[in-house]
Amino acid sequence: MVMIAPSILSADFAALGEGVRQAADGGADWIHVDVMDGHFVPNLTIGPPVVAAIRKVCALPFDVHLMIETPDKYIEAFAAAGADWISVHAEACTHLQRTLAHIRDLGKKAGVALNPHTPLCVLENILDDLDYVLLMSVNPGFGGQSYIPANTPKTARLRRMIEQSGREILIQVDGGVSPATIGPVAAAGASVFVAGSAIYGDKDGVAAAIAKLRAAAT
Ligand code: DX5
Ligand code: ZN
Repeated sequence: MVMIAPSILSADFAALGEGVRQAADGGADWIHVDVMDGHFVPNLTIGPPVVAAIRKVCALPFDVHLMIETPDKYIEAFAAAGADWISVHAEACTHLQRTLAHIRDLGKKAGVALNPHTPLCVLENILDDLDYVLLMSVNPGFGGQSYIPANTPKTARLRRMIEQSGREILIQVDGGVSPATIGPVAAAGASVFVAGSAIYGDKDGVAAAIAKLRAAAT
């Protein structure tokens, strides 16, 4: 199963509602929302009021990727604004198990995001607390970067780890995903693909871009 999650970071912020609608009408499975705080990553983006605003115009699941240093302070606000899936970075959480449990206590799906250099062993003791793992295939902070090839064997290793555990945990890949890069990482075992520039930057439009990604992944 291949799921496509357009990242609205690459949409036109002056017409964000329209960007989200185009994704929904174009066959997207989730909407990916990149939240950056200027500390964990060198960029500032979207807060809970923006999530609440687009929630009114879109029924798709919202996948909120928190690239922020103190996610515990903001999880409730994003949940209340309409997030359905919430991921936090392992590198930003001192008490990661507690943070994941907090997300689930709010009735949301809990994910851990890993930077490209972060080993999979940080997941070993929290598999029971996870609904999904977000593997960053670029260093987070900006759209439009190139896919880091080492993410593909990392995805295969994570797939094995999850299969050996017998759990149902989704693997999401984020960064540099395009029709040219999606095939091998889908074959390695990822099923949820975030794409920003490959979707909102495609001259053929959002729906065509989503179709191209799906075709190249299968
Ligand atoms: C990067 C973000 C990504 C980004 C992906 O820090 O987490 O979600 O929007 O953009 P592309 O698909 O252009 O690499
Ligand atoms: Zn992201």
